[in-house]
Amino acid sequence: MGLHTGEPIVTDEGYIGGDVHRAARVMSAGHGGQVLISEATARLLDSRAELSDLGEHRLKDLSAPERLYQLGEVAFPPLKTLYRTNLPVVTTPLVGRERELEEAGALVRSHRLLTLTGPGGSGKTRLAVHLAANAAEDFPDGVFWVPLQAIRNPANVEHTIAAAVGADDEPIAHVGSNQLLVLLDNFEQVVEASPTVSSLLTGTPNAKVLVTSREPLHIASEQQYPVEPLLLDDAELLFDERARGGARLPRDTRGGADLRAAR
Ligand SMILES: Nc1ncnc2c1ncn2[C@@H]1O[C@H](COP(=O)(O)OP(=O)(O)O)[C@@H](O)[C@H]1O
Ligand SMILES: [Mg+2]
Repeated sequence: MGLHTGEPIVTDEGYIGGDVHRAARVMSAGHGGQVLISEATARLLDSRAELSDLGEHRLKDLSAPERLYQLGEVAFPPLKTLYRTNLPVVTTPLVGRERELEEAGALVRSHRLLTLTGPGGSGKTRLAVHLAANAAEDFPDGVFWVPLQAIRNPANVEHTIAAAVGADDEPIAHVGSNQLLVLLDNFEQVVEASPTVSSLLTGTPNAKVLVTSREPLHIASEQQYPVEPLLLDDAELLFDERARGGARLPRDTRGGADLRAAR
């Protein structure tokens, strides 16, 4: 059981909003018989005497770590949270991309190398971090984000991967048979390093690689998924959300027409 306190938005289809998701994430982090309580709920209690502090955890979304408490002192296995990751914290909601998350999510499950391709600004990075977070359950040894935008020399890619996964020098020995996901973000300017990715895949049995790149890597076993810019409706919603400082509103009150007129 999970308890969280917040202010949902009431719609015809029920309660929606970030706190509803958060409550679901808190619930799904626990085990049968365990009662988890978020910081927001814990703060409302008169006494925290019966709570065990379980520390900060990243839940299975891309929000900042959250302190979780458990009611009582019974010992349970570690929480089912997304704590083995360096994925960036995302503070604005993902707009659209339901179909892409499903299709590309299936490709992450069925392939070891998936490259999201598309022009700059089409949303590859954003989609990739959500895909990686969604897939976290399949990677008990971690999900590692390797931002490459600052790397100009392909010879430095191997070292950058090593640093991200916590290896001292070359990553293959360190990764071994671990089940982990490496997200190589903005690969286009170091495409000459594609043999490094090949070696990582052939040298490890279980690691998977998700790449964002304007250009494919053109190596064996690569599966490509083109990322089209957002549909107009979604793009308008995104514009709308940015204009309102990130607060997500239900579609029917979003005032898209006004914003369209204002542009
Ligand atoms: N589906 C989306 N929902 C919300 N913001 C998005 C979405 N897709 C892209 N963005 C935002 O648009 C900008 C460009 O997207 P990005 O993923 O960096 O593109 P790319 O990696 O293809 O160059 C970023 O600020 C990103 O957060
Ligand atoms: Mg990018």
